[in-house]
Amino acid sequence: MKKAAAKTAATPRKLRIGVAGVGVGAAEILPTMRMLDTIDLVAAADVNPRILEVFRQRYGGTTYSSVKELCADPDVEAVWIATPNRFHAEHAIMAAEHGKHVVVEKPMAITLREAEAMIEASIKHKVKLICGHTQSFLPPVQTMRQILRSGRLGRLCAMHVWAYSDWMLRPRSADELDITQGGGVPFRQAPHQVDTLRLLGGGMVRSVRGTIGQWFPGRPIPGYYSAFMEFEDGTPATLMHNGYGYFVGSELVPWGHQNHHFTVPERIEVRRQLLAGTSDQDQAKDQLRIGGSDERVSAQVQAAPKPWVPNDLGMLIMSCERGDVRQSAHGIYVHDDRGTEDVPLVGSANPVAGRRAELDELYDAVVRDKPVAHSGPWGMATLEVCLAIMQSAAERREILLSHQVPAPEPG
Ligand SMILES: NC(=O)c1ccc[n+]([C@@H]2O[C@H](COP(=O)([O-])OP(=O)(O)OC[C@H]3O[C@@H](n4cnc5c(N)ncnc54)[C@H](O)[C@@H]3O)[C@@H](O)[C@H]2O)c1
Repeated sequence: MKKAAAKTAATPRKLRIGVAGVGVGAAEILPTMRMLDTIDLVAAADVNPRILEVFRQRYGGTTYSSVKELCADPDVEAVWIATPNRFHAEHAIMAAEHGKHVVVEKPMAITLREAEAMIEASIKHKVKLICGHTQSFLPPVQTMRQILRSGRLGRLCAMHVWAYSDWMLRPRSADELDITQGGGVPFRQAPHQVDTLRLLGGGMVRSVRGTIGQWFPGRPIPGYYSAFMEFEDGTPATLMHNGYGYFVGSELVPWGHQNHHFTVPERIEVRRQLLAGTSDQDQAKDQLRIGGSDERVSAQVQAAPKPWVPNDLGMLIMSCERGDVRQSAHGIYVHDDRGTEDVPLVGSANPVAGRRAELDELYDAVVRDKPVAHSGPWGMATLEVCLAIMQSAAERREILLSHQVPAPEPG
């Protein structure tokens, strides 16, 4: 009798999640949802019937052809929104109106007005709003933050993050090729770098001077940005992403060949086909989603994590008064007067550590009523910086920011 009571107390209650938009982004989190004993993946919505069929077979649960029906499902407590960027606000507000907690993929929205409306809806309907997934959740960035906060290297003095990726060469749907719908590298990749820099730098960015670039005729959207941002306390940071894939950052590390989307000849062929207009992008993108012939991520929850490569987030270097900090293959290098130390990652013993952080944040917020770190105002502040890079590029001037919030204290 006593034993049974002890078991009940130790067994966590499961949070019932439904996924809105089961595309490439959602596929990255589905295996983690299935593995965690705190999460019950109960439903999904998508407009693509092929995907719903694969979802039913692989994960079970109820499927819907609209997000509205998913939100109306009384069995769903929280909705993970991974529909295209132009729907983030509409779907997050819809979920909140149905009393569902929300995790929304980056970018939170495509305008500040939308972000504000999402925050208002979450307050009005008393639901949690979490702005995921950016790389700032991941163990390397969390470990860098811990090193910084330990004080061993003194004050943060400067940060630089530079990425060379093949983002522009991967299959893209029509919405991803339209900047007015939140397409292109500044909308899709800047949130990772901006969120990371803000988390490490304390959150409060004073101003941004940015530029964007579009120079490959095979893709009608910006594939490049670079920016200088200054924090309120004067700390400088530079960020850059070049998604054209002539050179990719993984080539900078000896083990980089293990983590390429494409080989060099494949990248040359993709560019040729894009210029000739001979590749069916919708079809190619669909093959990346669950059950498709090029699906990569769902099968990738491996016991041994792959070594880090400087691709999508890029090479991030944090300079402090008494040392520099950057990523190593499986940890974080601290370069200081004692030499170079390879510090293990926070939570590295856990095989699903990589993508569980926001699910843990959601669970703790809903079930344990803990404060949300990646909150609506936090996500809106990150979006403000991304939009300021684009505004600065258009107006060729420094943009002062007004929606910044401080980085949350670690839980
Ligand atoms: N955090 C990350 O690292 C990461 C990675 C990839 C994508 N994402 C994000 O995920 C989102 C989707 O990007 P993606 O690459 O997965 O694109 P995708 O096109 O593969 O996924 C979107 C899915 O939503 C479905 N959909 C479209 N309109 C819908 C609607 N009205 N109702 C229901 N379903 C609808 C599509 O059929 C598709 O399956 C974007 O916000 C993107 O930024 C995040």
